[in-house]
Amino acid sequence: MCGIVGYIGYRNAWEVIIKGLKRLEYRGYDSAGIALMNEKLHVYKRAGKVSDLETYAGQVATNSSLGMGHTRWATHGAPNDRNAHPHASSDQKLAIVHNGIIENYASIKAMLIQKGQYFVSDTDTEVLIKLIEQIQLEENSSLQEAVRLALTQVSGAFALVIASQDDSDLLIAARRGSPMVIGIGEGEYFIASDASPMIEYTKHVYYPEDNELIFLHRNEIEIRNLTNVVLSPYIQELELELEALEKGGYDHFMLKEIYEQPHSIANCMRGRIDHERKKINLGGISEYAAKLLTAKRIIIVSCGTSWHAGLVGEYLIEEYARIPVEVEYASEFRYRHPIINQDDIVIAISQSGETADTIAAIELAKRAGATILGICNVVGSSIPRLSHTGMYTHAGPEIGVASTKAFTAQVTALSLLALYLAQQQERLPLSKITSLLTALETAPALITTCFQSNALIQHIAGEIKDSTNCLFLGRGINFPVALEGALKLKEISYIHAEGYPAAEMKHGPIALIDEQMPVIVIATKDSSYDKIISNIQEVKARKGKIIAIITEGDTVIRAIADYIIEIPPCEEALTPILATIPLQLLAYHIAVMRGCNVDQPRNLAKSVTVE
Ligand code: F6R
Repeated sequence: MCGIVGYIGYRNAWEVIIKGLKRLEYRGYDSAGIALMNEKLHVYKRAGKVSDLETYAGQVATNSSLGMGHTRWATHGAPNDRNAHPHASSDQKLAIVHNGIIENYASIKAMLIQKGQYFVSDTDTEVLIKLIEQIQLEENSSLQEAVRLALTQVSGAFALVIASQDDSDLLIAARRGSPMVIGIGEGEYFIASDASPMIEYTKHVYYPEDNELIFLHRNEIEIRNLTNVVLSPYIQELELELEALEKGGYDHFMLKEIYEQPHSIANCMRGRIDHERKKINLGGISEYAAKLLTAKRIIIVSCGTSWHAGLVGEYLIEEYARIPVEVEYASEFRYRHPIINQDDIVIAISQSGETADTIAAIELAKRAGATILGICNVVGSSIPRLSHTGMYTHAGPEIGVASTKAFTAQVTALSLLALYLAQQQERLPLSKITSLLTALETAPALITTCFQSNALIQHIAGEIKDSTNCLFLGRGINFPVALEGALKLKEISYIHAEGYPAAEMKHGPIALIDEQMPVIVIATKDSSYDKIISNIQEVKARKGKIIAIITEGDTVIRAIADYIIEIPPCEEALTPILATIPLQLLAYHIAVMRGCNVDQPRNLAKSVTVE
């Protein structure tokens, strides 16, 4: 939800910021803008993508070594030139870019209008910069002090950058709730929503805490909290390589990320499986192992694709560790007075580690005394920092807005966790643990085998690309896979798609089935196999077009289905990972054939930092 970049140093700020905004475009892409300081502040902004801003301002942008940029996912006000960031003070001397929401903007705006301020946009951000300007005027205070005082008056979330025409050696950053990283170079500093814009310039970063103000001069960093106490930065080494942020020869990030899955899953397992002793080591959570093992209940909170991973986790944990699990949409959980006990474990799953609803659910559960275990991909993001313990999924940066490799890594992490709990409880026979671990270890190779169906999947995509509706069916542990397949298709191809437990179909959705309706069924040889054959027959009897994901060599379903896509035989616990691969490819090819923007689907953003 909006990406921000700031730069102060000796380089050409335009180049640093434009490149940085392109890397952050996954966060929002309905308008973009930049402010550069050269004697005065020059602001360039546009509705559209960062490339539109580049075309519009590239020739005229001023030479500058201080500036800020923004790529927007609209919250307050339509995505147009006027509402694009940066916003300026009335005297045009201050500029701001902001990610987050100022919740009490309406009352502050009314107060400022009474004092004579006027507004040219519909945004909450303009209210904030004009509040700062007003405080400066009334209190005759420094900009640093005015920003501090203003931030004590606002509620909501912010990660922001402010510059003033009166000081060409000062860039101010502040955060509460929204993500921010400060990059520390020699005679230069970077500010961004994540570390990707600074990766080629510095490996030294600082992740500000909530309610911190960072004052950057070319040769000095000063950090204070909102009560004006000076703080010292904890500087960390960045573990991110530039190649991970590039397409590497693929047409889209999504395709690259689908093909990265053998690697990302191997990374998720690295160091966590003791091959000789056939044991799982989860060093990061060992301190909390006793709490986990005595938990009466596990509650999983997450959103979207991460919620689907949570549903797979429910099957795995209940099956292997026999601990009751509830899976909740974080957005519902946080608002419905849930019963949370001190001996509950709350697992928060999130790729970005910044999803506002998941963060709010964690905060609620923490207040109730529960232990929080975060399963996240982005290292150093908010959720791992708010959690008591956790596991990183180590899938690497996911740039495509539709989540692919993050999902399979989340399922891998949950599989490891379920087996870890089972192993600690000595619940499962060693032979079962050994065969499950072997299955997990073979997952990267089996995924590679799944890619062999790519040409067939592309052909099937061509056959169904003009459909207006699709139904995805699965049972048991593959029901969440059906949900995930439907979500992938709808979000990138804009075809309406529903995921359903196959047996539930006859309680409603069966009414939709006719010869126009592709029905994608996960029908692998697992404990639901016989039942799902009956469900396929029910679809067939109503002339639905059946596309079945089956286990290699299955001749029974091959004879009934219109199209079959084979995945290699495997342990049932592994089928969610393998069956997801063809569904990701199917959604990808359909979206490409329909001319959709696969990596940046309309209306979406990668990191949903508003509720
Ligand atoms: C779908 C997708 C979203 C996210 C959801 C949660 O492809 O990417 O549904 O899964 O917004 O995001 P995280 O996992 O970052 O909390």
